[in-house]
Amino acid sequence: MKEGVNLDKEIDESRQGEATMIASEGSKTAKKLYVESYGCAMNFADSEVVASIMSQNGYTTTGDVEEADVVLINTCSIRENAESSVRKRLTNFKKRKQRQPELIVGILGCMAERLKKNLLEEEKLVDLVVGPDAYRDLPGLITEVEGGQKAVNVLLSRDETYADIAPIRLDKNGVSSFVSITRGCDNMCSFCVVPFTRGRERSRDPETIYNECATLFEQGYREVTLLGQNVDSYRWNMTSKGEIKDETKPTTNFAQLMESVASISPDLRIRFSTSHPKDMTDEVLEIIAKHENICNYIHLPIQSGNSEVLKRMNRGYTREWYLERIESINRIIPNCAISTDIITGFCDETEEEFQDTLSIMREVKWDFAYMYKYSERPKTLAERRFEDNVPEKVKGARLTEIINIQQENSLEVNKRQIGQVHKVLVESFSKRSEDDFAGRNDQNTTVIFPKGNFGKCDYVLMKIKTCTAATLQGEVVDVLKPST
Ligand code: SAH
Ligand code: SF4
Ligand code: F3S
Repeated sequence: MKEGVNLDKEIDESRQGEATMIASEGSKTAKKLYVESYGCAMNFADSEVVASIMSQNGYTTTGDVEEADVVLINTCSIRENAESSVRKRLTNFKKRKQRQPELIVGILGCMAERLKKNLLEEEKLVDLVVGPDAYRDLPGLITEVEGGQKAVNVLLSRDETYADIAPIRLDKNGVSSFVSITRGCDNMCSFCVVPFTRGRERSRDPETIYNECATLFEQGYREVTLLGQNVDSYRWNMTSKGEIKDETKPTTNFAQLMESVASISPDLRIRFSTSHPKDMTDEVLEIIAKHENICNYIHLPIQSGNSEVLKRMNRGYTREWYLERIESINRIIPNCAISTDIITGFCDETEEEFQDTLSIMREVKWDFAYMYKYSERPKTLAERRFEDNVPEKVKGARLTEIINIQQENSLEVNKRQIGQVHKVLVESFSKRSEDDFAGRNDQNTTVIFPKGNFGKCDYVLMKIKTCTAATLQGEVVDVLKPST
């Protein structure tokens, strides 16, 4: 397990997210915006776009909800639990609104898109409901609310990518940042609500991605994570069938995009998420192998180890196909860490089918896994076609079983690192002690080490001494000089 990740819950820290408050200090005169984000990294990235749109309209962001004039909650619908934690949070705001009736409370993101104006009726305290493609409209909608109306815009778009908006970085770590490269998803996995909440897939202009990453590097950032629900389907000036749209202009695929971002500086680390087993090409793997600064880490969700279950999930690959992709990774990028997502108790999952998930876990030995119980989502293909018929108890028991195997696998992988030397980017104090720093190695494992004559944003070489299933502990053997 990686540090801080809550394996046995439907919500995890970095992707499907525990509530994390992200904010920056505001000035005394301007109106104050407080943003709270739930869900995946894309939501966190979107909140930074929202902060930017609002700042152009006279708002500064604040980390103190008590001084906010507007509260925006960016929400997630991926599993029922994700929605119930937002509902709980909303009841807290209800009390606050009773004390301060002029406070404007808005819901953004996937729950806003899924529940639309029902949210206004259901949760009487909400003034504003804005879906993921309508954030440019926020200032106008807030003006409507100030005029005494309730406001809703949940229109999805075929081309909105917020490409021209320079996000305001809300996470103040200054080392690592998310950069969205696509929005939406066209895959229609049968269990998944994302195509309904985020709309059709579209790619962002590569020049704006390059420029955003280059600006981050100039500002001192040393790591960018390129984000999309399926990064491998990134394409610019090409149709989904690979035909060129405008012959006079260049085309860009994901491999080429990564190569261009990697050229910004050898000191800028590139990560990306999420890769899709059906679309991940050897060309992408070769680009990762070729560039030292593209991290040797791939998040490749499998969901189930059984081909029949995968078919019901509409994932577009079989167990054998997935294993072949793993073979290619290991062949082309020796020493590549691989993580995955697994769902237990999907519709009609038999004990025998579940055994195939256990066996593939023993075979692949992923470095890390995010694991979930299946949660039926309204309107999805699975909800319409199949019955959610695996009892909660069985889903839970299966989840515990895979968590235990993963725990063993992660410990085994980490033990193998002892004695090795890893390049680590220094990111923050360790969660436990201000005498220690934390960072990640190329393979995305957290490494803890004593403070020394170096600071945030430095690259250090670390000899690994001990480990747990979640983290490595080491000692710095060298501080690397910047390449440029
Ligand atoms: N686009 C990514 C996944 C995004 S959602 C991909 O295709 O891999 C992140 C993870 O949440 C999924 O990989 C899946 O494991 C899990 N998930 C999605 N819908 C779910 C549901 N209805 N119940 C349980 N887990 C779900
Ligand atoms: Fe959901 Fe599948 Fe799209 Fe991932 S690829 S977001 S799981 S529909
Ligand atoms: Fe959740 Fe929406 Fe992301 S449903 S996982 S916030 S795309």
